[in-house]
Amino acid sequence: MHKVVIIYDTWYGNTAMAAEAIGEGMKEAGLQVELRRVKDVKPEDVTAFDVIVMGSPTHAGDMSEDMRSFVTGLKRLTLEGKKGAVFDTRYVNEEVGAAVAMEISMRELGIDVVVPGTPFRVEAAQGPIVDGELPKCKEFGRAIVRKLE
Ligand SMILES: Cc1cc2nc3c(=O)[nH]c(=O)nc-3n(C[C@H](O)[C@H](O)[C@H](O)COP(=O)(O)O)c2cc1C
Repeated sequence: MHKVVIIYDTWYGNTAMAAEAIGEGMKEAGLQVELRRVKDVKPEDVTAFDVIVMGSPTHAGDMSEDMRSFVTGLKRLTLEGKKGAVFDTRYVNEEVGAAVAMEISMRELGIDVVVPGTPFRVEAAQGPIVDGELPKCKEFGRAIVRKLE
């Protein structure tokens, strides 16, 4: 049985909602999933999980500062053999976002990224999430699970 942690940052709650929907998709498939806000988790906490999902709001085309510090902290751990996936939230019209940077970091950490990093859209800086994105989040969760089987 895979133990999954979804670690997310959020300023206005949108990425938290996306994380919850992803978690629902994974739980429906029978997985044990824990959600943690990045500021409440220490890098070494991830060693207890074999699947690590990370999500961040896009800030200036990159991951948030808190997510960046967390990822930097992961570098002193041995994470080879773990599986993972990343997602971000970003403006509806943006092509560049946090997921690219997070996916690169995840690969550098030796984590097997099982699905492509995926953006979910917000209408404005504080949200809301664009209609129809939360079902896509759930599907993203299910897609991760399919890759673990
Ligand atoms: C300081 C700051 C910088 C941002 N820069 C970008 C950006 O470069 N590209 C983008 O698409 N969205 C940008 N946004 C919009 C965020 O992606 C949006 O606030 C976020 O998806 C909302 O998620 P949250 O409610 O979880 O914080 C920025 C928002 C803030 C507050």
